[in-house]
Amino acid sequence: MRQQIAAANWKMNLTLAEGQQLLQDILSKSPELSSHQQVVFAVPFPYLAMAQEAIQGKAGVAIAAQNCYSKKSGAYTGEVSVPMLQSLGIGYVVLGHSERREYFQESNQFLAEKINISLEYGLKPIFCCGEPLAIREANNQNAFVGQQLQESLYHLSATQLQQIVIAYEPIWAIGTGKTATSEQAQEMHAFIRSQLSAQYGEAVAANITILYGGSVKGANASELFSQPDVDGGLVGGASLIVEDFLAIIKALK
Ligand code: PGA
Repeated sequence: MRQQIAAANWKMNLTLAEGQQLLQDILSKSPELSSHQQVVFAVPFPYLAMAQEAIQGKAGVAIAAQNCYSKKSGAYTGEVSVPMLQSLGIGYVVLGHSERREYFQESNQFLAEKINISLEYGLKPIFCCGEPLAIREANNQNAFVGQQLQESLYHLSATQLQQIVIAYEPIWAIGTGKTATSEQAQEMHAFIRSQLSAQYGEAVAANITILYGGSVKGANASELFSQPDVDGGLVGGASLIVEDFLAIIKALK
């Protein structure tokens, strides 16, 4: 079975002490994970070392950075490089979140550079894609997401692509409480997989984990994750609430 992932995206929330407590509360109550299940916590940069330490010895749990820079090192004040993340033992990096695309003007091409350097250092990108409301209303979401995939991923070899996790996050569903229906999620996930299949072949596409993100909650996770092409979720708001995130972990296939 494909890897199924419950990924928490803390965004710019919590103090160090609050983050430590949240991790402890979730980890102490988390169910045992099967070998095809994983829980990932994408925490703010200053908490990465704490989080990495907190998950030591926890099978199936990994830490993600929420961003990285596209260069190895140098005079880039305020940026964080992939070798720095690697030196902490971080397993994943979230790239292309719509908030970074919108507020920090991250383009598909710039994201391709970040993906390249992440793969070079053995970090797995969680690559976010998804359309804004106007595109959905015009029914152009497939072309929009297809272009994001093409411009950021299709230069990769099949071996490289297999290190990528994709997160489909319709922008109109992020932090709005307006979740895509499970049919809308499944439809887009199947489209993404068909595009990957056309580019890399069916066997490669069948193995790629595709997460859904956008107002995933304890109450709707099972329904979303029950869809055949939905392999878990990237969760913002509900990942800050212990009982909600535990329910999301339990909803993994
Ligand atoms: P949300 O955020 O769960 O709060 O909608 C999801 C995300 O932005 O990854």
